[in-house]
Amino acid sequence: MLPTTSQSGLPVPDYLKLHYWWAYVHPKAVRFFERQWLVNLILWGNYNRLRDAALDALGTPLRGDTLQVACAYGDLTPRLVKRMDPSATLDVIDVLPVQLGNLSAKLMPSDRVRLHCMDSTQLTFANQTYDQVLLFFLLHEQPAEVRQRTLNEALRVLKPGGKLILVDYSKPGWFNPFRYLWKPVLMVLEPFAKDLFDKGITHWLPKHHGLTETARQNFFGGVYQLVTLTK
Ligand SMILES: C[S@@+](CC[C@H](N)C(=O)[O-])C[C@H]1O[C@@H](n2cnc3c(N)ncnc32)[C@H](O)[C@@H]1O
Repeated sequence: MLPTTSQSGLPVPDYLKLHYWWAYVHPKAVRFFERQWLVNLILWGNYNRLRDAALDALGTPLRGDTLQVACAYGDLTPRLVKRMDPSATLDVIDVLPVQLGNLSAKLMPSDRVRLHCMDSTQLTFANQTYDQVLLFFLLHEQPAEVRQRTLNEALRVLKPGGKLILVDYSKPGWFNPFRYLWKPVLMVLEPFAKDLFDKGITHWLPKHHGLTETARQNFFGGVYQLVTLTK
């Protein structure tokens, strides 16, 4: 078992309890969802592309100190660890111990990879700690006000010159039939994802964030996006 700073004590955010209990909070959720083919299916066969694009955006080899905000099902983090330079470190936070336990079981023990039970809106890391911060499909799950606080925190812990990498849903192009099919599905299953159809993902960054958008990629006719911002 890899170290975790806290076994719990953190309240489960209301939006997770209300809307995502079936995906993350319920103890059987992990057993059900932790299947590579299933996470790939949920992303309409785009998981590998999105995962690899996120890893490429972080750099090969992965250097410096990286923060992954929230665990993910699938092999994103194990592959990230494989790309780490011998001097690189990785911190992963999640608010749910069950998710950290699941991630821990997918990783080889290493003192350069640390898992922490922490809320994305209240990181306990010092200002300017990380060279890169990754948010992989987290923001669409959070209500707008929580999303804003998560981004504030991500920015606070990022070093000047560091990279913020956001991978998430976006508004599909007008030509994409998913625009009409997918939105109603998301509205039922992922009620806050609609925000990312209506506004650009950077909308929830603090007003004078001072970041420069250094790369942007769209996937699957615009259903997904990867945005890299440099501080
Ligand atoms: C990264 S998101 C979704 C990832 C994607 N669906 C996947 O698994 O590939 C899911 C994770 O976010 C975590 N999470 C949600 N809100 C959080 C918060 N406020 N702080 C930390 N982790 C949070 C959940 O506990 C869950 O483990």
